[in-house]
Amino acid sequence: MNRVLLINGPNLNRLGKREPTVYGVETLESLEKKLDIFAKDQQVELHCYQSNHEGEIIDKIHLAADNYDGVIINPGAFTHYSYAILDAISSISTPVIEVHISNVHARESFRHVSVTAPATIGQIVGLGTYGYKLALLALIEKIRGSENNE
Ligand code: DQA
Repeated sequence: MNRVLLINGPNLNRLGKREPTVYGVETLESLEKKLDIFAKDQQVELHCYQSNHEGEIIDKIHLAADNYDGVIINPGAFTHYSYAILDAISSISTPVIEVHISNVHARESFRHVSVTAPATIGQIVGLGTYGYKLALLALIEKIRGSENNE
């Protein structure tokens, strides 16, 4: 079974309560449960993690190097300024996909830049929590495609 790690960064534990007009009403717990069911259907073992702390997120990314086949990350506001998270993603060869629930390009200009995205294989933006499901499908395609080419 392929193993995928989902990392949600700062303030995403407040999904459902936090600015619902921007991020929707679904809680992180409900999102993680739904994704887990979807992952199992796809024969993927999904581990979900959330942290408000940059160093903890970096430690998890490092852990993914040897323990996971793929990573989905929403770095929250760290997206826009954390060179440390960029370096952490660059330090592993595990494929990483970045997800943003809101359309960051239609918001404040500081959100238009992702310093972390260049180290990822791709970014999904503005499709609500559906973006996580799409990221999982894209990762599966990537992981299984590369396994078949081994
Ligand atoms: C976010 C967008 C970021 O700009 C913001 O700081 C977040 C959430 C999103 O999922 O839309 O915390 O990453």
